[in-house]
Amino acid sequence: MSQEQYKEAIKSTRRFDEIQVTPLRRQIFSTPIFCAKDLREEGEETRKKAIDLAYKTIQGQTESGLVSEGWTDATITGDKKKQNTMGVTSFFGQNLCNEKEWKFFNDYIAELSYEVLAETIDPYLLEGLSLANSWVTIYPNGAYVPEHIHSMFEVSGVYYLQADGGDISFKDPYWVGKTMNIWGQGEKIFPHGSVTMDYEAITGGIMLFPSWLPHRTKPNPSDKDRIIYSFNLCTSSALRRLCQLNFEDDGMNR
Ligand SMILES: [Fe+2]
Repeated sequence: MSQEQYKEAIKSTRRFDEIQVTPLRRQIFSTPIFCAKDLREEGEETRKKAIDLAYKTIQGQTESGLVSEGWTDATITGDKKKQNTMGVTSFFGQNLCNEKEWKFFNDYIAELSYEVLAETIDPYLLEGLSLANSWVTIYPNGAYVPEHIHSMFEVSGVYYLQADGGDISFKDPYWVGKTMNIWGQGEKIFPHGSVTMDYEAITGGIMLFPSWLPHRTKPNPSDKDRIIYSFNLCTSSALRRLCQLNFEDDGMNR
């Protein structure tokens, strides 16, 4: 029997979660992420406004968190020299969702995220989509963020206000299991895909990903600051689920 004859033999009832690579080989348990480039007419003007505000926000903080190795060491400092070499984030000082002057941009990102997700996600699940928290980070030449996840949320994202290289790199959380069975000189009997996936950082790029997915960025290779707006999303449906758990049935059966 030729390989071609096996092709239709076994079908999954969950076709959306399966990628058929060849007639016999399929990839299962993949991780969805959403990548898009903001081509809106008002994009450039909006980014310009947000970039000015990003510098103003950082300058307005007496102390800010550092990125690069400063992130690993959880350094929060007012030392401008360190901020200008290692990179700096507003994350530890403010939730920009609560800042009036950032409202125009939070609305812009929520709308953009909705459009990207709505391509494949049912609208009723996206009802009330909004930003739960957000922060801005400025990476000078050589600065990066070490690997991390966004705890407590379901969907997270990043929007590149200004970027010229320095990929974002996602890592399969099951990398240990997938790479432990390497026999001999790196030979593998059973094939698996890469355990890291890199995407280029470009101005106007938006990436949405599951909050549990580990990611890091590579050092900014450019002399121009890389400026990013990061956020965690929330929906009415997620809030309903949380409220039911927290208020209607707290699991204690009292
Ligand atoms: Fe992140």
